[in-house]
Amino acid sequence: MTDRIALKGRLLSFKDDPATAGAGALEHHEDGVVLVADGRIGAVGPAGSVDVGGAEVRTYPEGCLILPGLIDPHIHLPQTRVVASYGAQLLEWLQTYTFPEEGRFSDRRYAAAVACFFHDELLRNGTTSAVVFCSVHPESADALFAEAERRGMRMLGGKVMMDRGAPDWLLDTPGTGYAETTDLIRRWHGRGRLGYAIAPRFAITSTEAQLAATRALVQENPGCWLQTHLAENRAEVRLARELYPEAASYTDIYDRFGLLGPRSLFGHCIHLDDKEVERLAATGSVAVFCPTSNLFIGSGLFDLARLRAAGVRTALATDIGGGTSYSMLRTAAEAYKVLQLNGQNWPALDAFHAMTRGNAAALGLEDEIGTLAPGSAADMVVLDPNATPAMRHRMEAVKDGDLAQTLFVLMTMGDDRAVLETWVAGRCLHRRDDGQTIDP
Ligand code: GUN
Ligand code: ZN
Repeated sequence: MTDRIALKGRLLSFKDDPATAGAGALEHHEDGVVLVADGRIGAVGPAGSVDVGGAEVRTYPEGCLILPGLIDPHIHLPQTRVVASYGAQLLEWLQTYTFPEEGRFSDRRYAAAVACFFHDELLRNGTTSAVVFCSVHPESADALFAEAERRGMRMLGGKVMMDRGAPDWLLDTPGTGYAETTDLIRRWHGRGRLGYAIAPRFAITSTEAQLAATRALVQENPGCWLQTHLAENRAEVRLARELYPEAASYTDIYDRFGLLGPRSLFGHCIHLDDKEVERLAATGSVAVFCPTSNLFIGSGLFDLARLRAAGVRTALATDIGGGTSYSMLRTAAEAYKVLQLNGQNWPALDAFHAMTRGNAAALGLEDEIGTLAPGSAADMVVLDPNATPAMRHRMEAVKDGDLAQTLFVLMTMGDDRAVLETWVAGRCLHRRDDGQTIDP
């Protein structure tokens, strides 16, 4: 078998953010070729302009779109069986459904089995990279990284640190959380395509001593990311303020411990005052929009226009299992509706940028993932806008394959059924019509 493969068909990738750079942001070829060599993008361009000599050429049906793999920057591995838990808002949802399920991840075998399912499901949905919260148990982070490594995926993650506010059997301590995180970073961060995201769960489940230990971890490991939750739900904000009365705001709790910065990802960011928004912007911190979760747990409406106008970097994520779908397409559809409720429009090109290069840029990884630029990893997804009878019927009304309309149909009506293939580092690891994810 050759290690050079050429994918031929309609291509779309982003060189920049279309919201600010306009049409010049797009790399779009109706009849294009992406050449893959040794797991990376070798060349991209209109068919005929790319030398595919010696490569195996795969031609996709008219209408299909070849894109960079989708990126999910906020998802919980131990919540695959928490999805669709009825009738509670955040704090009650955590206590009633989430903590009991996360308790099962002390069992290495259980963690490994779920990690396998989790990666299958990401790939079935066209997601090739994610930033993952594991449970408090280091075993769960080992399971995540081992499975990601087996598939060659660019995955970031970390065990949550939590030393209060949950059942005793689910807590670490400032000392053990620090030691276990340090050990996981040493064993996994920078190994192959893996990266570590230090994960104090949120201010409510960490004491001051644990946030101080988190500061030390961040300072000692500047190549790692930080992930946590911020201002998701009003009762959560109230409780965080009660637990940290000296802080001027919820954001200020993290700020006082030096946890804001360009490698810091804050899930939700719904209930923020102007000063908090200013601090997120000034520090280059990332606000992660999780629309299916925010709707399902009844948390509130993310104000994308406000955050972007203030200069806050943003990302888009599923937040399984508060979120209800592994599909970034469905996530984009719900984001669109949340923004509609706030009188904001969100063009499909912006949504597809968010799911690919935008999320990569939020991680500082846009030179490695999220685009089809030469030199990037060959992580790709092939989407089929005619995946279902209803989509096919709708697509008949799209004139001349108009790109923006096609993308809007894909994000509004599409889900895992629209994912024809998913490629990781130049290998096809999911083919829809084979019915199952391909074991590497
Ligand atoms: N805040 C703290 N932990 C969690 C979690 O697991 N899910 C969500 N949605 N919010 C959180
Ligand atoms: Zn979350």
